[in-house]
Amino acid sequence: MSEGAAKKEEKPRKFQAIRGTRDLLPPETALWNRVEHTAHEVFATFGFGEIRPPIFEETELFARSIGAETDVVSKEMYSFPDPFDLGELLTQYQRLESQTRGAGQFASFANLLPDTQLIAARPEATASVCRAYIEHGMQSLPQPVKLYYMGPMFRRERPQKGRYRQFYQIGAEVLGGSDAPAIDAEVIEMVMTFFDRLELQSVQLDINSIGDRNCRPKYVELLRAELLKVKDQLGPDSQRRIETNPLRVLDSKLESEQVIIASLPKIADHLCEDCATHYAAVKHQLEMRGVIYRENWRLVRGLDYYMRTTFEITAQGLGSQNAVCGGGRYDGLVELLGGPPTKGIGFAIGEDRLILSLQESGKGPAPKGRDVYIAWMGEKARATAIRAAKHLRKAGFSVELPPVEQKFGKALGQADKLGARFALILGDNEVSEGLWTLKTLADGSQTKFTESDLLEHLRKQKALSP
Ligand code: HAM
Repeated sequence: MSEGAAKKEEKPRKFQAIRGTRDLLPPETALWNRVEHTAHEVFATFGFGEIRPPIFEETELFARSIGAETDVVSKEMYSFPDPFDLGELLTQYQRLESQTRGAGQFASFANLLPDTQLIAARPEATASVCRAYIEHGMQSLPQPVKLYYMGPMFRRERPQKGRYRQFYQIGAEVLGGSDAPAIDAEVIEMVMTFFDRLELQSVQLDINSIGDRNCRPKYVELLRAELLKVKDQLGPDSQRRIETNPLRVLDSKLESEQVIIASLPKIADHLCEDCATHYAAVKHQLEMRGVIYRENWRLVRGLDYYMRTTFEITAQGLGSQNAVCGGGRYDGLVELLGGPPTKGIGFAIGEDRLILSLQESGKGPAPKGRDVYIAWMGEKARATAIRAAKHLRKAGFSVELPPVEQKFGKALGQADKLGARFALILGDNEVSEGLWTLKTLADGSQTKFTESDLLEHLRKQKALSP
């Protein structure tokens, strides 16, 4: 068989979205839009402005900020050499090889790789916001600078309900010279106000303080010593974490470890005076704002940049992946990235989980049909239908204008399938009389209107509709 014939017989390959990624489709996207619209509205009332950082950054930015040993950086990041740099390197390598006639000085291409810039699809955006704060000299703006963002993030996790490799976050950060507890409380109040506006159900806010550079290392050592005493009773993950990050043991969900964890020393009893005072003031400020919280001494976050206030919010219907928002204070992160001494606090909401929870509690929008389906027949009616569609759309109605002529019976069937509220019937009679027939699909009633009366009637109907 000739190559051409073989190609012809080859079945076209069907493509599928990559594991852990998915298409968001209508009608669900209407809910995504409503959520995002509400975020823009609520965050603006708290004086936040939107930042749109790039989706990829230098890998090093995330490694420094989040911590090279964290799961996010060490296991989950989509990090790769910039393909352009790779091409450059290859050219350079070939040139050197030919100059030295392959004498082996440049033993392997891979040896040159460490000089190549690695870039990463962002696993979160706090690091990007801090980078942008420094890059744009935002310390000279009135402080604090309050920014929010929304968009896709990427982590190579095992996909399951509520956990994806491309997921979406809505987050906010407050950066500036002050670490006043009222700032922590207001940031938390803002996210709770947002959830309230969306009528998110069974919202539970957990807070904690994980101390600072002064008191945390001492507590971590104490914890490590206590964990070593019970090492044999712990699972392999926790055993490993005794060395790498004992705080993360507190996070463990393993049933058999719960009794042991309950008897470990609590950080609240080991905070230095400044941290204890700050934590007490944050709680007082939350109470002044009527924000209901639960203290959870086991709430340690998986990213290294946190200090003092940490918080997490859970909501209804999310199973094991029930954290819908996580956040905390990260004073010093901007400095770590080469910027001026700066305090910072923020949060990120998992938008996919937020949507899931809203859907589970029946807050998803009902599939929205068209307002008007224009059933037209005849050339004169076609011109009138085009004009009618233009006017109705301009007035804000959703209009379906069939591209080809259809018998009225078929057109009305189609209008029904699309969930249209009204069918506007335009035939030769209607056009020559100047009286258009409007059929209400729910009850089959029909009324004739002039063009201008029709618009007025539809406006009134829309105002009355739920
Ligand atoms: P995070 O806890 O890593 O914090 O993520 C925040 C939220 O993003 C989680 O509570 C969860 O709802 C959602 N999320 C995380 N990973 C996934 C995933 N694979 N699939 C679906 N949703 C996911 C941060 O990212 C910090 N940058 C938050 C922050 C901002 N702290 C201070 N400022």
